[in-house]
Amino acid sequence: MKIIFLFLIVSFCVQGYEIDGGRIHKPKKQQFHRLHDHQSTQGSIDDDFDCVEIYKQPAFQHPLLKNHKIQLFPTFMRTRMQNRSSYLGKANKDENSMRGCRPGKVPIIKTTMRQKLKTHPSSRSELDNFTQYSKSYPGHHFATLDTTQDITFHGASAAISTYNLSLHANQYSICGFWIQSGPPTELNSIQVGTGIHPSLYGDHQIRLTAHWTADGYHKTGCFNQLCPGFVQVHSQFSLGEVLKHSSVIGSEEKYLSDIKVKQDKFTGHWWLFGSLDHIPMGYWPKQIFTHLSKGSSLVRYGGETFAPPNTISPPMGSGRLPQELFKNSGYIADLMIVDSNYNEVEVNSKYMKPNCDTTSNCYDVLYHGYEGPFYRQAFLFGGPGGQCGI
Ligand SMILES: *[C@@H]1O[C@H](CO)[C@@H](O)[C@H](O)[C@H]1NC(C)=O
Ligand SMILES: *[C@@H]1O[C@H](CO)[C@@H](O)[C@H](O)[C@H]1NC(C)=O
Ligand SMILES: *[C@@H]1O[C@H](CO)[C@@H](O)[C@H](O)[C@H]1NC(C)=O
Repeated sequence: MKIIFLFLIVSFCVQGYEIDGGRIHKPKKQQFHRLHDHQSTQGSIDDDFDCVEIYKQPAFQHPLLKNHKIQLFPTFMRTRMQNRSSYLGKANKDENSMRGCRPGKVPIIKTTMRQKLKTHPSSRSELDNFTQYSKSYPGHHFATLDTTQDITFHGASAAISTYNLSLHANQYSICGFWIQSGPPTELNSIQVGTGIHPSLYGDHQIRLTAHWTADGYHKTGCFNQLCPGFVQVHSQFSLGEVLKHSSVIGSEEKYLSDIKVKQDKFTGHWWLFGSLDHIPMGYWPKQIFTHLSKGSSLVRYGGETFAPPNTISPPMGSGRLPQELFKNSGYIADLMIVDSNYNEVEVNSKYMKPNCDTTSNCYDVLYHGYEGPFYRQAFLFGGPGGQCGI
């Protein structure tokens, strides 16, 4: 997982045009630079991971993936990826080095962690009907921005501000997006983002975190690769990897995590991409889903927290409320969807709806649509937590 280092130079008198990430824009009061500092900011796999033969990874223990033909690249990127012959398993001398696995192997989070996660009781989060959130799953809270269009989505992407938060061992806080389809009891959902989840990972680090279900969180699904489902193809970037840098409140030093999920038009699999380069990490095969195999009816961006019922909720986003704006509040920028024709387009403010299931001193959502050429379509969300029950 790579993160963009966002370096914000306040420069009140500058006029003229800047070329920034391929986009040309006219700076107004502030000039923004997105510096790509891959070496120092990429996420890494560490001792928590084993390098496993790609064809022997846990995904293939899924009953519906017995004869699965592994897809090494998304079909929509195949030509480009195949020419980059060094892509899959860039030769690494050390099997378990920070740089990833040897060719033909992929990083899989260790069994000890896997078992811990599988039995984790709070891995469910009802998301189908917003008014039901806290009622259905006590202890969970959400602050989100949701699509309302009646169309089929084939993916989403966003740049998520990354902040370190202080949590208790039995709490978690995740920022990112959900892609969903189906009625509550059959809800198909993919959730992906950055998360601090001490009871899951055994530490307080910020990690790339995903969750899936195919039946409304009842019998199927889990976090990351902790049950058979997600097929890992990249030898270096993996679910559960540690994000090394966090933004600083009140400072101009900000880090964003770019994440994209896109359905392959030809195979129906849901690909996960990390970083600005859109590196394909792996996919959720269409076979593990029912409704999502045909596309998604809802994209939801935002945060989720969990604390045991009747205890105080942890911080979300940056831990500050949206009124503190981009300087201090957590935010998600560059909001894009993949539309019915598989085109990647910005969300349309007309069709986006903020939702929050707590009082506004706990968490909140602030959305104004387009926020200029750097943030583009973006919203502010989160807060300090506390007594969040209504
Ligand atoms: C990539 O390889 C394909 C054939 O496999 C070729 O047609 C195409 O021109 C190559 N593209 C580049 C950028 O080299
Ligand atoms: C959501 O739940 C509320 C309260 O139970 C209910 O009134 C409403 O109709 C539900 N909405 C949908 C879309 O199911
Ligand atoms: C966040 O804080 C924890 C300790 O609470 C630390 O272990 C971790 O490295 C920090 N992460 C970042 C990205 O600063």
